[in-house]
Amino acid sequence: MSHERPSISVFGLGRVGLCFAACCAHRGFHVIGVDIDEEKLSVIERGEAPFYEPHLQDMLEEAVREGLELTPSAHEAVIRSDISFVTVGTPGGPDGSVDLSQVESACHAIGEALAEKGAWHLVVIRSTVPPGTTGGLVKDVLEGSSGLRCGPDFGLCMNPEFLSEGRAIKGILEPDRIVIGEHDRRSGDALQAFYERFDGDASTRKRILRTSLINAELIKYASNAFLAMKVSFANMMARLCQALPGADVVAVMDGVGLDRRIGRAFLNAGLGWGGSCFPKDLSALLSFAGGLGISLPLVRATIEVNDEQPLVAVELARKALGDLRGKRVAVLGLAFKPDTDDVRGAVSLKVIGALLAEGAEVVAYDPKAVENVRALLGDTIEYAGSALEALRGAHCCILVTEWEEFRALRPEDFGRLMKEPVVIDGRRIFDPEEFEGKVRFFAIGRGPKKAT
Ligand SMILES: NC(=O)c1ccc[n+]([C@@H]2O[C@H](COP(=O)([O-])OP(=O)(O)OC[C@H]3O[C@@H](n4cnc5c(N)ncnc54)[C@H](O)[C@@H]3O)[C@@H](O)[C@H]2O)c1
Repeated sequence: MSHERPSISVFGLGRVGLCFAACCAHRGFHVIGVDIDEEKLSVIERGEAPFYEPHLQDMLEEAVREGLELTPSAHEAVIRSDISFVTVGTPGGPDGSVDLSQVESACHAIGEALAEKGAWHLVVIRSTVPPGTTGGLVKDVLEGSSGLRCGPDFGLCMNPEFLSEGRAIKGILEPDRIVIGEHDRRSGDALQAFYERFDGDASTRKRILRTSLINAELIKYASNAFLAMKVSFANMMARLCQALPGADVVAVMDGVGLDRRIGRAFLNAGLGWGGSCFPKDLSALLSFAGGLGISLPLVRATIEVNDEQPLVAVELARKALGDLRGKRVAVLGLAFKPDTDDVRGAVSLKVIGALLAEGAEVVAYDPKAVENVRALLGDTIEYAGSALEALRGAHCCILVTEWEEFRALRPEDFGRLMKEPVVIDGRRIFDPEEFEGKVRFFAIGRGPKKAT
């Protein structure tokens, strides 16, 4: 590998890979993006982001202008780069299994190219893969398809991605930590050198943790399990608070979070976590451990609390309106979190499913994710062009995703537009004092008003 800035190739230009490729180009690296989806490649080639992520569009335009290269050819990408990052998808099955076929085929193609390259090359797995995958399946596939030996002939690292959608660019440009799981010292040194150049900052070294391949894989799963556990803990306490006159989970978590040993982050009660990572990664961890005869009761409980949490909103709607049959319910927010259009594993889909099962009519609005939900639910629900339009004529409104624009809604908007203004704040974005007395207002984790 040259001592100049290495050229890199990124395999899999999804939500992780494309953001990573754009950030690397922004930091001055020569980047070759590889994807098997040629339609996606041509969209990116035009400088258009194929999904919504803040700042990505601008960065991509810059990257394409500055020479981001795109190709479906693994061979070309490996020959013309020094490091290949693998960021393909690892979707989960219903039983918690992880589908590693994208990783396997990307590594097979990389291995075949390595056979012809004739120079040491570093392969870095950034996708989330079950413990043992990088040192097992990935190494075997690379060695098998290249006829080379991992270590002397090519390098291998596991470098988990911790970004969160909606803040992906910042997460990549300013990561809290960089975990380098290494097959051998030379591989780890090469990846550390890449990150030192990426950051151009002497403090990078302090944020790098070098460890084994399997520990890096476990760090990713353990981090997601811990974050999800914090949310489920807040939601468990929310259920208790909701039954206690005068109690409010927001105040309780503010107090708990002030303890520096605990911290306030991820203690926001709401309708639970969703997305493409937490659900699949926790199920995968549980299933992986189960296969070894090890039970992970905290992970199991974290999932159980979360499975029930979206239904709390529907229970509150029933409490307020009685039978939901024929009632028009406005669902505000469809994306699994704000600032993304991703609806994989979104809580909104569970809430809508439960409402439809009770015979309610659903009208939904989201600033970015309507088309992605339309592709899944078609015309089983109505779609509104704005939050105010969704509220018009509704009997109940459930706020599911805490988009910034919803914070501007005032009690008068609900009172004026809704047929029966019942508001359920599923993410605790409204000030209850402002709403109570003006509309029928329910908030997750807030107990009934204390008798004075
Ligand atoms: N989305 C997140 O917030 C996030 C955060 C951290 C880690 N991760 C992990 O990162 C990985 C990628 O996630 P994602 O959300 O970006 O996935 P994604 O499904 O959005 O993108 C995967 C991309 O890989 C491409 N691909 C599939 N096989 C390929 C091959 N053989 N060669 C080249 N390209 C190929 C697909 O066409 C697609 O564009 C997963 O393991 C995920 O668990 C995701």
